[in-house]
Amino acid sequence: MACIYPSDHQEPELLYPYILENIKSFLEGETDWVANAANAAATVGFLLHDLNWVGFYLMKDNQLKLGPFWGKPAVTTIKIGEGVCGTSAETQKTIVVKDVHQFPGHIACDLFSNSEIVLPLFKDNQLIGVLDIDSPEIGRFSETDQIYLEEIAHYLSKTILWPK
Ligand code: SME
Repeated sequence: MACIYPSDHQEPELLYPYILENIKSFLEGETDWVANAANAAATVGFLLHDLNWVGFYLMKDNQLKLGPFWGKPAVTTIKIGEGVCGTSAETQKTIVVKDVHQFPGHIACDLFSNSEIVLPLFKDNQLIGVLDIDSPEIGRFSETDQIYLEEIAHYLSKTILWPK
């Protein structure tokens, strides 16, 4: 069982590798998907600055169902094509929303959220869900954040033993 410490670094080039290193240390030797997804969400939420929600929505019965998360309680079911998460699932692409209030159909779970990034998760080329990250800051997620968060999403996609 590892312990987590905040990083002194704010530069993405140093902070993101530190986040990935922490996620890896929490996942090492553990096969339970709920435990691993919960610790991954909490690690990103704790270490990355200016966030208010980090969590997983997983494909179940052709809809997205809330999985482990860090933050306030959230909507449990999102249809494909609905909101930012459902749009990411439909297009199978990362969606970066600079200002959620300008995104038609955005589903508000936390009134403090102002920007959002949603990253699709794939296993064996099949969409298994999305990783959703919210921030109270408008325009919080840069292209650099996107690149590093896609790397984290890819790692989690292939490492966690997601439910079938
Ligand atoms: N804002 C998301 C819904 C999930 S919450 O942000 C946790 C959306 O529009 O899909």
